[in-house]
Amino acid sequence: MTKKINKIGVLTSGGDAPGMNAAIRAVVRACTHYNVECVGIYEGYSGLIKNDLVTLDARSVANTINKGGTFLRTARCNEFIKKKGRQVAYDNLKKAGVNALVVIGGDGSFRGALEFSQEFKFPVVGIPGTIDNDIQGTDFTIGYDTALNTVVEAVDKIRDTASSHNRLFLVEVMGRDAGDIALNAGIGAGAEEILIPEREDLGIERLLKSLDHSEKTGKTSSIVIVAEGKTGMNVLEMRDYLNEHRPEYDVRVSVIGHMQRGGSPTCADRVLASRLGIGAVDALMNGSTNVMLGVQKNELVTVDLKVVLLKNRNIEKELLRVAHISSL
Ligand code: F6P
Repeated sequence: MTKKINKIGVLTSGGDAPGMNAAIRAVVRACTHYNVECVGIYEGYSGLIKNDLVTLDARSVANTINKGGTFLRTARCNEFIKKKGRQVAYDNLKKAGVNALVVIGGDGSFRGALEFSQEFKFPVVGIPGTIDNDIQGTDFTIGYDTALNTVVEAVDKIRDTASSHNRLFLVEVMGRDAGDIALNAGIGAGAEEILIPEREDLGIERLLKSLDHSEKTGKTSSIVIVAEGKTGMNVLEMRDYLNEHRPEYDVRVSVIGHMQRGGSPTCADRVLASRLGIGAVDALMNGSTNVMLGVQKNELVTVDLKVVLLKNRNIEKELLRVAHISSL
């Protein structure tokens, strides 16, 4: 028989994402709804190992839904990769009477969560929080929509100066190994070309072809969105390559960087975070473990963490077509 859950721990782990506070808030308020205690853990798994815990009640999360970052702070924790670190974490949770855990983070955080849960038979539920949107099993992750809007706003501004000077701008956006931000923000910002890591033919060769085409069709300035990561060259190398091989272009580089991780979450991210936070506590109270809450076709779903970690997402072909046709 599974043990009755009466104290739930919540932590944020990995890179922060706008909307994480809204997710913590939802977890805390769902605990209030079920009349179970809630404990916040500072700095992800590091806080578990350091025993850095705080009691949270419904009022502790007032005025947090609109705030970027995570008030519980976050970290990437190497000690939790080792059995010794996980044992300390388990002992601390046991001492505090916490008997279930909600982990808000990305796939690295879920890998740790799964290992921990299996090792100690400890109920764990994940909530996808990362601007990258690179999590298998959910259509959207918390923070992604806000990051998209930040990128579009920045590129709109870059467009003003690009068109005033007839310049070519290479704009690097985040996404580690995923092109979701680049592709969707690129379409939204009307980019001329979008280079993403998922497709090998979306590197420099494709950019050159696209520039040749633009020249023929009379474009005078261009915005190229480049996803960080594996497009073969980074933006600075691309600029140098273009300076050498296409000296007729006046090329500038703009790296949007960590600005994409900050700011007040959009309404879409707040709603998503609230749904997933409450769904996570529902799942634990219904006896689920080792699952992630997600949304598929706007329905709340629970997905086995093992499936989440398979990492076999594909970029949507239809979006590639939209990007191509809308930039002709
Ligand atoms: O995973 C989120 C993310 O923002 C990636 O897009 C980016 O590659 C990485 O984190 C940056 O990490 P850090 O904040 O450690 O530099």
